[in-house]
Amino acid sequence: MVLLFYSQTSKHNIMANVKFFSGKEIPLEMHKVRIVQKLSLPPVEERVARMNEAGNNTFLLQNRDVFMDMLTDSGVNAMSDLQQASMLRADDAYAGSETYNRMTAKVSEIFGMEYFLPVHQGRAAENILATAFVKPGDVVPMNFHFTTTKAHITRLGGSVEELIVPEGLEPINDCPFKGNFDIPRLEALIEKVTPARIPFVRIEAGTNLIGGQPLSLQNMREVAALCKKHGIKVMLDASLLQDNLYFIKEREEACKNMSIREITAEIASLMDIIYFSARKFGFARGGGIAIRTKEDEMRMKEFIPLYEGFLTYGGMSVREMEAIVVGLDESMDEDVISQGPKFIEYMAQELHKRGVPVVLPAGGLGCHINATEFCKHIPQAEYPAGALAAAVYITSGVRGMERGTLSEQRNEDGSERFAELELLRMAMPRRVYTLSQVEYAIDRIAWLYQNRELIGGLKFVEEPKVLRFFFGRLAPTSNWQEKLVEKFRKDFGDSL
Ligand code: F0G
Repeated sequence: MVLLFYSQTSKHNIMANVKFFSGKEIPLEMHKVRIVQKLSLPPVEERVARMNEAGNNTFLLQNRDVFMDMLTDSGVNAMSDLQQASMLRADDAYAGSETYNRMTAKVSEIFGMEYFLPVHQGRAAENILATAFVKPGDVVPMNFHFTTTKAHITRLGGSVEELIVPEGLEPINDCPFKGNFDIPRLEALIEKVTPARIPFVRIEAGTNLIGGQPLSLQNMREVAALCKKHGIKVMLDASLLQDNLYFIKEREEACKNMSIREITAEIASLMDIIYFSARKFGFARGGGIAIRTKEDEMRMKEFIPLYEGFLTYGGMSVREMEAIVVGLDESMDEDVISQGPKFIEYMAQELHKRGVPVVLPAGGLGCHINATEFCKHIPQAEYPAGALAAAVYITSGVRGMERGTLSEQRNEDGSERFAELELLRMAMPRRVYTLSQVEYAIDRIAWLYQNRELIGGLKFVEEPKVLRFFFGRLAPTSNWQEKLVEKFRKDFGDSL
């Protein structure tokens, strides 16, 4: 094993490059575990019972029944020793706390924006932004929607236009930046809708619903230039910026010699507003809105005490705010931010080798399994990605998240809005799982793929109108789950 380069302090902070004598290529953790949590793995018969008590919706499972929680990377990333230590110095004041000053200073150091408003999480920022800027009939162009973003914009009578490049919707495609905007389509939309009806253009870093796919710095420059030309505000959802920064550094030739901080500063210089969920960007739980102008700050400020909390905490605990300050610094360290994408790449490649259809190139956030291919025999109206999520839990005790038709809202007329991609997302919480646990997940999913014909569809038994994927309850369309358990026992004997 040869340690080629490692530096925490170097300006360019070149990523640790570790080669194995054997030639093996596996991701190597650049941290050690110092606090652990015991896990349990219920037997398959119990897993099928728990899945049905939870309405075949992985959001409704109890964590005590879950072996690996790959539902999300939101608020469940492991904190560092320095984050834990920082929480002790939180300044608990309703108004004017030092913690707030430290958080504002850190956000402004990283993004170079003068104003900052704290919020309790990402969707709270979306509520404030939509409330301040969106009116009925408005159109918000974006590379791709996110569930909560869209819900806030449509709640206020606005609509969303998705302008992702065509490669973004192809599960397997060499394109290094599948999250990019299709610039000619953005241009045409601005012409058609007119800038007066576009309150802002939203750029989503690490595009969540298409598999955590990144945008290039160049594409962001082009979007910003177009917006500037037409006098339209440009806004960045930086919740998944961490992974996007890593991919820019890795894949964008012009950025190879830039540090993560330099890339971040360059991106930020293009934006009028940057908001983020610190449940992802910041390794803790909270959020914030960085703002360039006083005028924009004034439009949003009054809503903070109304919906969030006083202006110096915005609904966050001061302890979490301190952890975010350190977490934001860690998000500028390549050794830290490379861990997620490298583990995800490993999982995706290993599944791919075993024939399992996954989104390639692997993005950030998690490993995305293409349920349309995996469950070819399940009609889209029976929610193949939801059915696959239930089957993976039954098979392995690992919980993922449906990112397909269930995650869509029905059309106005009540008809189903079929998702462009039916994905099962196996999120990779940062610094949480070891490689042997990831190997276990790969092995069980590969077994399920061999037995995929046994998976059947799902139907709603309780369907909420908004964000139905959070609390909707479903049932299997046949006794397919019993057959799956039977086959599991036959192949695995008395194994858990
Ligand atoms: N924007 C993006 C791109 C997100 O991925 C999320 C959350 C939000 C906004 C909202 O932030 O959860 O703090 O309110 N994504 C989580 C996920 C829920 O699991 O992908 P939040």
